[in-house]
Amino acid sequence: MTAHTSKVTIHMAASLDFFIARKDGSVSWLETSDVYENGASFEDAEELVKTIDCYVMGSRTYEDALRLGWPYGDVPVLVLTSRSLPADRDNVEFYSGDLRELVGGRLRPRYRNIWVVGGAMVAREFIRLGLVDDIRISIIPILLGDGTPFVDHVGIEQALHLKVVTAFRNGIVELWYELRKTA
Ligand SMILES: NC(=O)c1ccc[n+]([C@@H]2O[C@H](COP(=O)([O-])OP(=O)(O)OC[C@H]3O[C@@H](n4cnc5c(N)ncnc54)[C@H](OP(=O)(O)O)[C@@H]3O)[C@@H](O)[C@H]2O)c1
Repeated sequence: MTAHTSKVTIHMAASLDFFIARKDGSVSWLETSDVYENGASFEDAEELVKTIDCYVMGSRTYEDALRLGWPYGDVPVLVLTSRSLPADRDNVEFYSGDLRELVGGRLRPRYRNIWVVGGAMVAREFIRLGLVDDIRISIIPILLGDGTPFVDHVGIEQALHLKVVTAFRNGIVELWYELRKTA
C-alpha cells in the first residue's frame, strides 16, 4: 500500500437545511420513515462500510458515539482532542497536533480508505487544510430549523465535482463529491 492509493473521505448526514446535529444533540431525526419507491436499497452501503479501514473524528463526536452506541466496531479510530480522555477501547487512539502530519505522515501510508466522520469542526479543519479527497453527504428528508451547521464559514472556496448521486428507498439522498485539485 502506498500514499498514492489512500483516500480521505468526509462522510456525514445532514438535514435538507444542512444541519448535522440538533441543538440538544438528540439523533432521532436520523431515522426516517419516508419511502421513495424508486430508491436503491441499503445493501450496497453496508458493503461499502466494510471497506473503511480507519475512522477519524472530533472528541465531541467520539463522546456522543460512546453515549449513543458505538457504530465503528473494531476498525481503528483516531480521535482528535487536546484533553486526556479515557481510552475505553483497544482500537481508539487520541491525537493532538498538526493535522497535515497526521494525515500525510501516519494515516495515508497505513490506510487505504480513511473516513472523517465529523463533527463540523473537524470537517471544517480538514477541508481548510486541503486534506480531503471526497465528501459524501447523506441528506435526511427533514428540515431541522436549527442546530450545528455542516462546515459553515470554512474560509476557502473549493470547487467540487459531482461523482455519484444515490437516492435510497428510505428517502435519503447521498451526494458524493470529489474535491477538485487546483494546479
Ligand atoms: N450528522 C452527522 O453525520 C454527524 C457526524 C458527526 C457528529 N455529529 C454531531 O455533531 C456534533 C459534534 O460536532 P462538533 O463540530 O461540535 O465537534 P467535533 O468536530 O466532533 O469535535 C470537536 C472537538 O474535536 C477536537 N479537535 C478538533 N480539531 C482538533 C485538532 N486539530 N487537534 C486536537 N483536537 C481537535 C477538540 O476537542 P477537545 O475540546 O477535546 O480538545 C474539539 O473541541 C455532535 O452533536 C455529534 O453528534 C453529527
